[in-house]
Amino acid sequence: MRAASYEEYGPPEVVHITELPAPDPGKGEVLVRVKSTAVTVADARIRAARFPIGFVVPARLTFGLRRPRRHVLGSSFSGTVESVGSEVEGFAPGDEVCGMNGIRMGAHAEQVSVPAKNLVRKPSSVLHADAAGILFGGTTALYFLRDLGQLEPGQSVLVNGASGSVGTAAVQLALRLGGKVTAVTSSRNLELVTGLGAEQVIDYSQTPVTGIEDQFDVVLDTVGTLDRKSGLKLVREGGVLLLVVATFRETVRPNGKVKSGTTPEHPDDFLYLVELLEQGAIRNVGDELEGLEQIVAAHAKVDSGHKTGNIVINLPG
Ligand SMILES: NC(=O)c1ccc[n+]([C@@H]2O[C@H](COP(=O)([O-])OP(=O)(O)OC[C@H]3O[C@@H](n4cnc5c(N)ncnc54)[C@H](OP(=O)(O)O)[C@@H]3O)[C@@H](O)[C@H]2O)c1
Repeated sequence: MRAASYEEYGPPEVVHITELPAPDPGKGEVLVRVKSTAVTVADARIRAARFPIGFVVPARLTFGLRRPRRHVLGSSFSGTVESVGSEVEGFAPGDEVCGMNGIRMGAHAEQVSVPAKNLVRKPSSVLHADAAGILFGGTTALYFLRDLGQLEPGQSVLVNGASGSVGTAAVQLALRLGGKVTAVTSSRNLELVTGLGAEQVIDYSQTPVTGIEDQFDVVLDTVGTLDRKSGLKLVREGGVLLLVVATFRETVRPNGKVKSGTTPEHPDDFLYLVELLEQGAIRNVGDELEGLEQIVAAHAKVDSGHKTGNIVINLPG
């Protein structure tokens, strides 16, 4: 099978197309023919070994100290079941599925082997590209807003960085949870974010986030331009600051009103997100690229720090 592989950490160009044997689905695993796969900030961070403060050592130990241990990146995907390993129930060849493969990755390839428990059925009316696109930002937004922030109907929410993968999902999911959203984005994305349902939209080139004078029940920072001190100034009494980008210390030692963490991958959340797509209650925002050979361009776009929503690569066939 064709795969996007890398053997050393570095710029987008370290990733190249190569021929690899198709994975063999082991016990409890499903071999999926990938139709669409997302290229995310996580993929770019791992490729470049570029991790937030304090994460460098644990991340290098996980992904490979000097060189990457796993050569095919990509966690979020949508596709069809090719074959199933032993002890797999509920999936059969031809089923349309989507999911996330955690740190096993491997989805930037024509085929990927995934534990069956990491898969859900994709509704037939949802496009593979939309399913693959929504999972990374959608699961993160759910974890932060619903689980850590415990957002309640009627609460005010500030989403800093509202036009990225996490931000576009956060604006839409905060609305679903009953929040009233103020979004911070660039002038180029004001219209997009308004269209996603934000009540108020602030252009960060005109009003830096630290210059906003209102206070909010929930402040979600997806960019890293807020820290504990500057972020708490935006939080009203009883509210919470959610740092999607945080140092290792902030992540492992949550402190009262300031919360961070690493998003877990729950199939229930995958299902919730694709069902919202099916209902037209949320939408996947972003760009689609055709063919695995677009992988270097996709990584470069992610590295720019200014992609809009999600970047998805569609594979032919
Ligand atoms: N803790 C976790 O479990 C977890 C999970 C997922 C992601 N993350 C982290 O969350 C971060 C965001 O991920 P992502 O996938 O959403 O990234 P992304 O899609 O690359 O986000 C880029 C967006 O950030 C916006 N942006 C850049 N500078 C900005 C500024 N100064 N103010 C406001 N917006 C700004 C850009 O908008 P413009 O182009 O309009 O400037 C762009 O749309 C990453 O660092 C990622 O590693 C953490």
